[in-house]
Amino acid sequence: MAKPKVFISRLIPEEGLSMLREAADADVWEDPLPPSYEKILEHSRDADGILSLLTDTIDAALMAASPRLKVISNMAVGYDNIDIAAATERGIPVGNTPGVLTDTTADFAFALLMAAARRLQEGVDYVRAGRWLAWGPRLLTGVDVHGATLGIIGFGRIGQAVARRSAGFGMRVLYNDPRRRPELEKSMNVAYADLDTLLRESDFITLHAELNATTRHLLNAEAFGKMKRGAVVVNTARGAMIDQRALSEALAFGRIRGAALDVTDPEPIPMSSPLLDLPNCIVVPHMASASVATRGRMARMAAANLLAGLRGERLPTCVNPEVYSKSPRS
Ligand code: DGY
Repeated sequence: MAKPKVFISRLIPEEGLSMLREAADADVWEDPLPPSYEKILEHSRDADGILSLLTDTIDAALMAASPRLKVISNMAVGYDNIDIAAATERGIPVGNTPGVLTDTTADFAFALLMAAARRLQEGVDYVRAGRWLAWGPRLLTGVDVHGATLGIIGFGRIGQAVARRSAGFGMRVLYNDPRRRPELEKSMNVAYADLDTLLRESDFITLHAELNATTRHLLNAEAFGKMKRGAVVVNTARGAMIDQRALSEALAFGRIRGAALDVTDPEPIPMSSPLLDLPNCIVVPHMASASVATRGRMARMAAANLLAGLRGERLPTCVNPEVYSKSPRS
């Protein structure tokens, strides 16, 4: 029997790739840069499954043009690059990779928070520019992390993992999430705050929510206006949760102290972005989950989802489980 055909939109770690090569006829996009939308369309036309990345737009038109498509597996916990409603409508299950990247991403969010607080990048740039002439009593002074108030927006797995790390720094933790978690408030020593209170009282604000219509531009000019003047904003979630223009103005005019961004809108950040000229803004290329072990786990999980879908089984981690209660597409 012919093997099912799958399109894999980049060279994912070998752990996942070998699983797919064994069980399927794998069409792998090997360029280091992502395929264009047109290329994804071309390669998916006769595919039974797609293993996509967050750089790939998988929309209703693409699904309509891929009549054999039985499953989409995204190698990411976020899935805002996929039209989930369209997939559900077509009875196509969509998989993601939750859980396996939680701690790695939380480690990195904390690294960014500390780097921004203690001006790490400015220090590195200072030394590299040959400006380190002597120890200075006022040189590159930052703000303390220990004892500060941390505001966590989005209190799912990653938000909670960041809260656990903050305990070691004796931080006061506020969280905001559509779902209040009274059972965690005592055990984790965190307090629920409405968004305004969190913005007003936090020294550090870190984003861990999913991107949707409610969270798009959640941090806009009005939100920056409510923050403390010394606030530092960290984003390892999705770039579009922050209005980039409002952020660059808030940073340039000293409305807030600093920002550290793993994600931007758009990605990659245009070299003309004013954010890149601001010494109080750290920008790195969407790498919070990038440890060798975690990327290997993500690849395996994405492959397992894809293979389950090809076999007609329930995906181990499915973002639209309602497909299983719908009648099969006519
Ligand atoms: C995700 O998984 O959604 C991250 O942004 C990349 O690992």
